Amino acid sequence: MKTYLIAGNWKMNTTIASAQALASSVVESAHDLPQNVHLVLCPPSLYARTVVETIATNNAGSRVRVGLQNCHHEEKGAYTGDVSASMAKDIGCSYVITGHSERRQFSGETDGLINKKNHAVLAQGLTAIYCVGETLQERQAEETFTVIKKQMLGGLDGITVEQVENVVIAYEPVWAIGTGLAATAEQAQEVHEFIRAELSLLYGDKAKSIRILYGGSMNAENAQTLLAQPDIDGGLIGGASLKADSFLTIARSVVS
Ligand code: PGA
Repeated sequence: MKTYLIAGNWKMNTTIASAQALASSVVESAHDLPQNVHLVLCPPSLYARTVVETIATNNAGSRVRVGLQNCHHEEKGAYTGDVSASMAKDIGCSYVITGHSERRQFSGETDGLINKKNHAVLAQGLTAIYCVGETLQERQAEETFTVIKKQMLGGLDGITVEQVENVVIAYEPVWAIGTGLAATAEQAQEVHEFIRAELSLLYGDKAKSIRILYGGSMNAENAQTLLAQPDIDGGLIGGASLKADSFLTIARSVVS
C-alpha cells in the first residue's frame, strides 16, 4: 500500500493564536485518518515551535510532523534574519521546504543555492521537500520537461542514493499556485511520471520509493482525482491548508 504525504504550506499567514488553533484542529482529527497518510504542517518559522508543542501535547507526533518553509544553507553565522536547518531540527522540525517557486521568484533563489540548502537539510537528518515546476510561458513554449530536468539535476547535484531517502519532490506548476487553476490529473501525472523516470536514471530502483507530491491549487474538490494517479504520492497544499476542514478532507481523499 502506498504511503501518502499531505503537507500544508501556510506561507506568511496565521498569528500565534490562529496557528495554534489550526494545528490543534488538525491533530485532533489526525488519529482518524487512513493509516497510510502522514501530515506535515509548515507554519511561518516564528510559530513552528508552537506547532511542535501542540502536536506533542496531543500525542500526534507519529502522524503529524512540522516543517519550515525555507532555511539558510549555512549552519550558523553572520546571516542577519535567516534561520538554519540545524535550528529547525533543534526546535523539533522534521522537514524543510526548499526551492519553492515564490522563493525562486521573489528572493532570486537559483538551483545552485537550493542545492546547498538541500545538502544542509539532509546533513541535519531532516527531510527536504524540494519543489520544482514550470511557469506558464515555459509550458506554452513546450519547455516543461527541459525545465524540470534542469531543476532536478541542479537541485539534487551530489545527493547520494542513501541521502535521497530523505528527499521528497514536490511538482508545483507555477501557473497553478494560488490561481485556483490546478493541473488536470493527466497533466500532473505526465510530469510526475517524467520526474520518476529522471529519478530512476539518477537513483535506480530507489526512485520507486521517493515520494512525489503535487502542489498548485489542490483542494477538497480535486484532491481525490489527483491523488488517485499512480505517480502522485501526496500534496503540497497552500490556500486549502489554512482551514482544518479542507486540509483534512484532502488527507481523507487518499486511496486507502
Ligand atoms: P496553493 O499553493 O495550494 O495555494 O496553490 C501551493 C504551494 O504554493 O505550495
